[in-house]
Amino acid sequence: MKIAILAGDGIGPEIVAQAVRVLETLRRDGLALELEPGLLGGCAVDAAGEPFPEATRRLVADADAVLLGAVGGPRYDTLPRERRPEQGLLALRKALGLFANLRPAILYPELANASTLKPEVVAGLDLLIVRELTGGIYFGEPRGVESRDGLRTGFNTMVYNEMEIARIARVAFQAARRRRRRLCSVDKMNVLECTQLWREVVTETGREFPDVELTHMLVDNAAMQLVRDPLQFDVMVTGNMFGDILSDEASMLTGSIGMLPSASLDARGKGLYEPIHGSAPDIAGQDRANPLATILSVAMMLRHTFGREDAAARIEQAVKRVLAQGFRTGDIHEPGMRMVGTAGMGDAVLAGMEHG
Ligand code: IPM
Ligand code: MG
Repeated sequence: MKIAILAGDGIGPEIVAQAVRVLETLRRDGLALELEPGLLGGCAVDAAGEPFPEATRRLVADADAVLLGAVGGPRYDTLPRERRPEQGLLALRKALGLFANLRPAILYPELANASTLKPEVVAGLDLLIVRELTGGIYFGEPRGVESRDGLRTGFNTMVYNEMEIARIARVAFQAARRRRRRLCSVDKMNVLECTQLWREVVTETGREFPDVELTHMLVDNAAMQLVRDPLQFDVMVTGNMFGDILSDEASMLTGSIGMLPSASLDARGKGLYEPIHGSAPDIAGQDRANPLATILSVAMMLRHTFGREDAAARIEQAVKRVLAQGFRTGDIHEPGMRMVGTAGMGDAVLAGMEHG
């Protein structure tokens, strides 16, 4: 099992270091893991002049899975678009064909008070957002800024073909089958033709999954329902841009964006695993970042790419144990809890893994 480790920028190296300790523990206990570091994002721009250099391209093509910290930072905000760190991540997703982005939002009972929503609204939250990741307006052509009638004019294209819609719908239906068998597809079919096709194709694909209850929701309503009554959702499926926005919103229901892992998968289960949060340059290098989202991303890797449910569960149990013991990084801290830094949280998880 070959894993490319791309720590990235900002807090990336600190949080990935803790996730690597988890992988090393699993290796010590018998998993045949090979870890290979590489550069992506701003650190790659610094070292190689581009955010997704050829060496990284080869490394990830050769690996079975990729673990990523985060990319980006204010130092790179003035670079031309093609050299921005985010472009490295987008190019990596595209190069590996990682069209299926799974973003679970789970509220651990211990963190019920960390959410900005009332506990009675969010307690028990366990939803999965399935976001299409290699199409839609993120990649559509034509795109650009040009002069039209003497006015600077910006334009992007939202485009999906039926194959792209059907394959992400299948991933979502299959995920729903392993959960509470309810799928809500999110679109804007009252305005956008592209998403009218989305609704049609998701409905057609649903005929293959008569055991899953399919509903549709317009994206503005979905954004509202997520904070009004999030427990109504099991699995949500949507396009690239709506999924980007709704998954940030859903993350906050759980108290901290620092808790949420993600998986981005190709058609054969190869995947990129990363926390859904960014590089948090404001706290980088201060041992303050929460490494749990990255550690939980390792659990998703073991489950989705390597089929090792046992190892995935061992990590997730350790995280639950650590929360129950009261260990908290600053983002989820409350009075009376045991405040720890990034490395201290890593220590606690490793200790938790020894009792499983
Ligand atoms: C995400 C991020 C990325 C995205 C950025 C960094 C390109 O916001 O993974 O949600 O928009 O997909
Ligand atoms: Mg985002």
